[in-house]
Amino acid sequence: MTAYDITHHIYDVVVVGAGGAGLRATLGMAEQGLKTACVTKVFPTRSHTVAAQGGIAASLGNMGPDSWQWHMYDTVKGSDWLGDTDAMEYLAREAPKAVYELEHYGVPFSRTEEGRIYQRPFGGHTTEFGEGPPVQRTCAAADRTGHAILHTLYGQSVKNDAQFFIEYFATDLIMGEDGSCQGILAWKLDDGTLHAFNAKMVVLATGGYGRAYFSATSAHTCTGDGNAMITRAGLPLQDMEFVQFHPTGIYGSGCLITEGARGEGGYLTNSEGERFMERYAPTYKDLASRDVVSRCMTIEIREGRGVGPNKDHIFLHLNHLPPETLAERLPGITESAEIFAGVDLTKEPIPVLPTVHYNMGGIPTNYWGEVLNPTEENPDAIAPGLMAVGEAGCASVHGANRLGSNSLIDLVVFGRAAAIKAGEVVDPEAPNPELNKASLDAAIARFDKFRNADGSISTADLRDEMQKTMQADAAVFRTDKTLSEGVEKMKAVAAKVEDLKVTDRSLVWNSDLMETLELTNLMDCAMATIVGAEARKESRGAHASEDHPDRDDENWRKHTLAWVDGPDVTLKYRPVHLDPLSTQDEGGIDLNKIAPKARVY
Ligand code: FUM
Repeated sequence: MTAYDITHHIYDVVVVGAGGAGLRATLGMAEQGLKTACVTKVFPTRSHTVAAQGGIAASLGNMGPDSWQWHMYDTVKGSDWLGDTDAMEYLAREAPKAVYELEHYGVPFSRTEEGRIYQRPFGGHTTEFGEGPPVQRTCAAADRTGHAILHTLYGQSVKNDAQFFIEYFATDLIMGEDGSCQGILAWKLDDGTLHAFNAKMVVLATGGYGRAYFSATSAHTCTGDGNAMITRAGLPLQDMEFVQFHPTGIYGSGCLITEGARGEGGYLTNSEGERFMERYAPTYKDLASRDVVSRCMTIEIREGRGVGPNKDHIFLHLNHLPPETLAERLPGITESAEIFAGVDLTKEPIPVLPTVHYNMGGIPTNYWGEVLNPTEENPDAIAPGLMAVGEAGCASVHGANRLGSNSLIDLVVFGRAAAIKAGEVVDPEAPNPELNKASLDAAIARFDKFRNADGSISTADLRDEMQKTMQADAAVFRTDKTLSEGVEKMKAVAAKVEDLKVTDRSLVWNSDLMETLELTNLMDCAMATIVGAEARKESRGAHASEDHPDRDDENWRKHTLAWVDGPDVTLKYRPVHLDPLSTQDEGGIDLNKIAPKARVY
């Protein structure tokens, strides 16, 4: 193995990733005086949160009556009763505080006539515990809400002296012999140097792994890096079979058209010009939960009512809305529709198709963001020194399906929670543990192995095989046959990681090596996804099995845990948390309201 000079850094906290969750955690840590580094492979304001359009859910009640209990009910129902009750309560209860903090940090929210934060309707968000009309709960900065949040949080973090290590690619965790996390190894992309970060707390905020699929709204950087750092540390991932398809990716490019478009009055039609959602979801129609809308669109296409020459997509209409509303509320998608579909949305409908958008599964955590290392005796055991937040984490508030605009609120509520917890458990006066040399050496050896990989398949070709297999066999609708064939195909695909060929051996801006390391990360995520899906013999949220069309709470209201080792995946399960944080006497939710029932919109 080549000898590498390692640059060493010592911090109280190292946050990996600078999207909404990573920046909110970084800011919260730095505000408390913890010496905090944020290590990110892209410039912070280019993180994928920048693409979040429609808004951030919180029951502010600016546009009509709302309550955190209604928000919690919608989240429980949206999760198809797989979310953890304590975490869902925490999310809904803390959401208004977290949004007002953003406002005070400087996020330029759109405003009502009275100067309050503007809120729009989003799918699955309702009033009166699902009995009333849709609620306007999604706080928006036009249709560039993620962009506005990222810029604000980055500025505030810099102001609070957080140190940024930009275009550093984190490759592996450094784990102590006692199973605690001690830091990370990172590769500085612009000069090729390797860096060991020693930290009392590592926070993984590395986002999702949408790029395991062929068509995704996710940025090309969404490669599940933190998830795979976890699998390589011998820890499990949770509920990876639940992959969300957003109803309105632009046909062809996959670029997102926000659900806010339907929130502002947009609607879907099939080849007969029918507003078909009225048939499937008579109450909430186009504002049903997004897994439901994606499935209905897929059924319309399968039954021959798709639009276009190949009848393979659906139309989204906004052309009936006043041009001023489009200009004021949806300027970003007006541009996207023109650039990516060649459509003037004031005049024509946009061609759309359900597209991979979000991973409900990820690194199991409690609602403070502490990573779990579940055992038979203690399914909630903690892995010391390690946290995960944002799409990388699985607290689990989204369960089997996430509601639109519950992602941005998840980022800031749990980024903030991680900082609060770190403030309690990280002692700035205590010395950092000495790094475990064996773990650091193993991380360097793995980096060197792929740098010198000399097999017979290129990274691009293997990535293509993986993405096409996942797209075909772990799709919106799944069958026992497609899943079991998909598992066999994916095992063969994952085995080829050992036969990869990297052609560029240099260390400076080596995108061939970078994409190879990212592919190995995606591969672990893909394996956990398809094996977990094949095992789950029911339909719940985003996991829709044609052979097991009903939800089966008796046997399957449980979280999947997946330990991944190359093509081999070991599954176990852990119970869903059923207890809320507060009783009804303390102002908490009436548990009868969130008891499992059929999920209809
Ligand atoms: O449709 C959207 O604007 C996406 C929001 C979300 O995924 O939360």
